[in-house]
Amino acid sequence: MKITIIGTGYVGLVTGTTFAEIGHDVMCVDNDAHKVEGLRKLQMPIYEEGIEEIVVRNVKAGRLHFSTSIKEGTEFSEVIFIAVGTPLGHDGAANMSYVERVGREVAQNMKSYRLLVEKSTVIVNTNEYIKRTMNKYLKESIPFDIASNPEFLREGTAIKDAFSPDRIVVGVESEHAAALLREIYEPIVKSGKCEYLEMDIASAELTKHAANSFLAMKISFINAVSRICELTGADIKQVAYGMGLDKRIGHHFLNAGVGYGGSCFPKDVDAFVHMGDELGYSLDLLKEVQRINVKQKEHIMRKLQQEMWVIEDKTIAIWGLAFKPGTDDIRESPSLFFVPRLLEKKAHLRLWDPIAVAKFEQAHPGLKYFDTPLECAEGADAVLILTEWPQVKEVDLKKLRSTMKCPIIIDGRNVFEPGIMAKHGFTYHSVGRRPVLHPGAR
Ligand code: UGA
Repeated sequence: MKITIIGTGYVGLVTGTTFAEIGHDVMCVDNDAHKVEGLRKLQMPIYEEGIEEIVVRNVKAGRLHFSTSIKEGTEFSEVIFIAVGTPLGHDGAANMSYVERVGREVAQNMKSYRLLVEKSTVIVNTNEYIKRTMNKYLKESIPFDIASNPEFLREGTAIKDAFSPDRIVVGVESEHAAALLREIYEPIVKSGKCEYLEMDIASAELTKHAANSFLAMKISFINAVSRICELTGADIKQVAYGMGLDKRIGHHFLNAGVGYGGSCFPKDVDAFVHMGDELGYSLDLLKEVQRINVKQKEHIMRKLQQEMWVIEDKTIAIWGLAFKPGTDDIRESPSLFFVPRLLEKKAHLRLWDPIAVAKFEQAHPGLKYFDTPLECAEGADAVLILTEWPQVKEVDLKKLRSTMKCPIIIDGRNVFEPGIMAKHGFTYHSVGRRPVLHPGAR
């Protein structure tokens, strides 16, 4: 089946590539000519494990095409997925201008029935606004449908998530739209054990925002419990494990740390809260989730500050710039909180990340970047861990101890075991666990 995807960010590119891989004929459209040109030359605009291989295979098989023209995309196929960004606007609401533009341009260019599918994360009832826009810009009365098909893939495991999702959610209001989407997803539904859910459009739109907000709430909840652990001597890892064994709670998303980041949770929770306010229902629960997330970063900063006493002139090594392992994405990453504040306090920074350096350098040029965690820690007064990359877990602690000026670790991701850090002579502060205060380092 022919499919057009508008927007080739993480969601659009992964979705288009997955559809091509399961046998559809896909055109990916993006208004960034440089990106489209790169993709035609098989250069990936993002780092995502496994994507390059699938893009190359499908371009060579003639199933995956790239274009900068919405007109061309509209002519190419009956089904058009909208996968453009919905960034946060200044007022805390999601900026819908890219989505609106797609609706407008498709309406201006379509000559027969089209199904527009919202893949981007949108506020509930966005479909009504797209419909209104389409009706305004259609040159003649041509039938169309809107559907919602929210995306649940995670960066870093996006390809795996796309081929074996927990569920596929589809919001439709006509049998024809439902049949088209069923046909598109048939190979995935047939091969996996995922649930295929059909519901009304508003419910599908809301499912996405509610799911992301719930996951963010789980993280802020465990971070709040971690603060109580620190005040009482309990251990958050043991508490979380004990909680997670209850199947109703589960072990996922109970890792306490420096707080959630990325392009989705912060933006989606903000947009959801804003929508609640607009509707006249204050989502106070989520306002607290946001507050805890900010406080958590400040709390870790305080641990570093207290341990250093004076930060000025201290050499601080930061391990991890990406918002999580497996991606080069630095959007809303904790590193963007710590680096400017430490620079302001006149620290000398040494930075390491296995793949996010190029993106981070664009935001913070002129800093010192190193190839390995050990090189980064050379001569440091403290190491601050912000991303739990596998390379961090594999560091030779003996070598680390001897390469640092002062053996102080502030671990924002609970990577190491306090007992082992004590044995190696580190002063070790983590999240929700007793600190290891090595007398030699005091
Ligand atoms: C998230 C959702 O998990 C996806 O289902 C959703 O499709 C996506 O947003 C989206 O809306 O596009 P993603 O942002 O890629 O995916 O990353 P996650 O793995 O969910 O992690 C988000 C943040 O939470 C990261 O900063 C991570 O470090 C943090 N986190 C996660 C914790 O602090 N503790 C945990 O236990 C789990």
